Amino acid sequence: MAAKICVFDAYGTLFDVAAAAREAASEPDMLAIANSWEKVANEWRLKQLQYSWIRAIVGEHADFWTVTSDGLDWALKNNGLDGNANLRERLLALYRELAAYPEVPATLSRLRASGKSTAILSNGSPSMLDSAVKAAGIESLLDAVLSVESVGVFKPNRYVYDLVGRRFGGKPSEVLFASSNGWDASSAAHFGFYSIWVNRSGEPVDNLPWKPNKIVDDLSEIPSIANRA
Ligand code: LAC
Repeated sequence: MAAKICVFDAYGTLFDVAAAAREAASEPDMLAIANSWEKVANEWRLKQLQYSWIRAIVGEHADFWTVTSDGLDWALKNNGLDGNANLRERLLALYRELAAYPEVPATLSRLRASGKSTAILSNGSPSMLDSAVKAAGIESLLDAVLSVESVGVFKPNRYVYDLVGRRFGGKPSEVLFASSNGWDASSAAHFGFYSIWVNRSGEPVDNLPWKPNKIVDDLSEIPSIANRA
């Protein structure tokens, strides 16, 4: 496929969501999380996503910073860490500046060099996305940063995927959409995007009727996929 517009999910796809807990665990005054950081990171992510889906289904939107904080509070409590206000504050601060995966800048640069438009389409609130993009130094490599806040509902509601056409025009089939979240890649395929699942952790394909068009291990192959006729 020869895509004109290449759109990326943010959390887990461009930015490493485990990085906040991993980095905190290496800090001398955050010893409380040293042994449990992986479990906390997994539960934090899971609850964050569950809360986003539940809020979308019941029609009670709150921004992604709220569901991120609510998810963290659940994970801290489940690991006996809920009394630790310094840890909570540190994890949230680190989440605003998550590390980007190493191949991100080169992937975006190659896409831009071959004439593609690049964008983020994320559940993240504009201020969260702004800090993460700036911390990763990739603002000059993106044509647009699209947040669900402009439609007030989380993925996989179709209004979110519609934001790409509203910004760039064109048909969904002209859009390459990449996400490390299997559910997001499946829903994007349902919407009509050329969907790539970035399966960073070798999980099985989701049992949903809409399958991603391609599965890759990381983002590095995406520029050549986007150019293929
Ligand atoms: C996002 C979440 C789903 O960035 O990772 O939209």
